[in-house]
Amino acid sequence: MSNQPTTVDQELETLIRARYPIVYVVSWEERRVEEALREICQRRGKKLVQWTITSGLGGNIGARDPIAALDQVLSAPDQSVFLLKDFHPFMTDHVVIRKLRDLVYALKTSYKTLILLSPMLKLPVELEKEITVVDYQLPTVTDLDRLLEGIIQSVRGNSQVDVRLSTDQREQVLKAASGLTSNEAENVFAKSLVEKRCFDIDVILGEKEQIIRKSGILEYYRASEAFNDVGGMDLLKDWMNQRTASFSGKAKEYGLPEPKGILLLGVQGCGKSLTAKAIASLWRLPLLRLDVGRIFAGIVGSSEENMRKAIATAESVAPCLLWIDELEKGFSGTQSSGISDGGTTSRVFGTFLSWMQDKKAPVFVIATSNDVSALPPELMRKGRFDEIFFVDLPAHPERKEIFSIHLRKRGREVANHDVDLLASKAIGFSGAEIEQVVVSALYTSFHDGARELTDSDMLDVIKVSVPLSRTMREGIAELRYWASDRARPVASAEAEDLDMDYTDDDTN
Ligand SMILES: Nc1ncnc2c1ncn2[C@@H]1O[C@H](COP(=O)(O)OP(=O)(O)OP(=O)(O)O)[C@@H](O)[C@H]1O
Ligand SMILES: [Mg+2]
Repeated sequence: MSNQPTTVDQELETLIRARYPIVYVVSWEERRVEEALREICQRRGKKLVQWTITSGLGGNIGARDPIAALDQVLSAPDQSVFLLKDFHPFMTDHVVIRKLRDLVYALKTSYKTLILLSPMLKLPVELEKEITVVDYQLPTVTDLDRLLEGIIQSVRGNSQVDVRLSTDQREQVLKAASGLTSNEAENVFAKSLVEKRCFDIDVILGEKEQIIRKSGILEYYRASEAFNDVGGMDLLKDWMNQRTASFSGKAKEYGLPEPKGILLLGVQGCGKSLTAKAIASLWRLPLLRLDVGRIFAGIVGSSEENMRKAIATAESVAPCLLWIDELEKGFSGTQSSGISDGGTTSRVFGTFLSWMQDKKAPVFVIATSNDVSALPPELMRKGRFDEIFFVDLPAHPERKEIFSIHLRKRGREVANHDVDLLASKAIGFSGAEIEQVVVSALYTSFHDGARELTDSDMLDVIKVSVPLSRTMREGIAELRYWASDRARPVASAEAEDLDMDYTDDDTN
């Protein structure tokens, strides 16, 4: 399969022509990269010389040793591109690192290029400034289409399978397969033909979910929450509704920029995570949840590698929503991390920030956090997120809505309850706590001979509950103060001042 030059191929060619000494290509797809390099070399009249630990340099078994191989690169004639496959395990050795640095200077004045190709990025700090990293993108829709056509041709005449596809179906199949490597796509197309005797979208999507799950960092989230399940937040809802069609071709034609993302800051249990899921249903886009903690957990690959991979996967699934829940868990203390973790956190965070700033792919980021003090200030700078929203405790009208939602969810008729009264007694309760009031009261009434739930069951629970806002009054006041001139409120109604005493005689 011959590759049409894509943008990465062009970038590689430019780097080679501009005499960049060492280029690090990150890709799982050795075959594609190799083919692209072969074509570049042909065009530019260069020789392609390969190295692997098993076969040495250019088939010279004597140069299997990494240092011997680098020596040979140094002494080889000009006009060559050296492709070193899976060299990364050897880049921890200080002699290898020094040799590579020496090569950087020597190659700059030569017509030789050293290409390091591995599926993961592992770069020692000493070489960070010397080596250019190229992320070899996953196959484009055109690449996948060619691959699909190849499969269709190869089974033509086989009456056991039906490979006919309408234009629409073909587009759907390709969209479902986007985000897979060529190998993965080839496998899943074949699997679908074996299992279903045709190209089946569900088989392909199922496989893609598997692959995203296997990457261990992103989670494909099936959103079941509707926007109507979120109580209150009228302003945020308006904002989101206005942008529902913003990823369409029509919006682009009209001149609208694609929205970048929002940061939801606020009080615990007030519906930040819930909102993220609801937006996915509203916009009907896949929701990928990024676990920042796992990026750093070291279970799978290096932290930087994990961040890059997560971004690449999200872009390949675009348009989609990238949900970064509890942002502070991963990125807290980036300022001090220079000491604690050799700057890894800062670098990973930097990767994320610059991606946010420049991203072209329609990936809408929804980040949530309930601790502003833990977040690095760079994050708040204009241009990163479209908007920073502050999710406060629900005000009276919102609490009414939240009571109604959770009563309805549990099969209760809202008209049979005085939600206005309930809301006025539940000052300082978060959405999660209101839900808990309904649930606890239901336990009581069920235990009490499964009789119907009454308002006094709920009022009793409210009376004995200590909402978080009481124990964390100061924290919330601080958060409100911080947000007052930095963030936009999600709701038009203002929540009660927690320093006021709202207790009245008839409830006590
Ligand atoms: N505005 C709301 N409307 C309806 N239900 C709500 C609302 N806020 C919270 N809830 C209920 O409380 C649950 C927990 O809320 P959620 O996890 O979204 O809070 P959060 O703001 O993400 O909290 P944390 O900061 O602890 O992550 C929700 O699943 C939902 O059932
Ligand atoms: Mg949450």
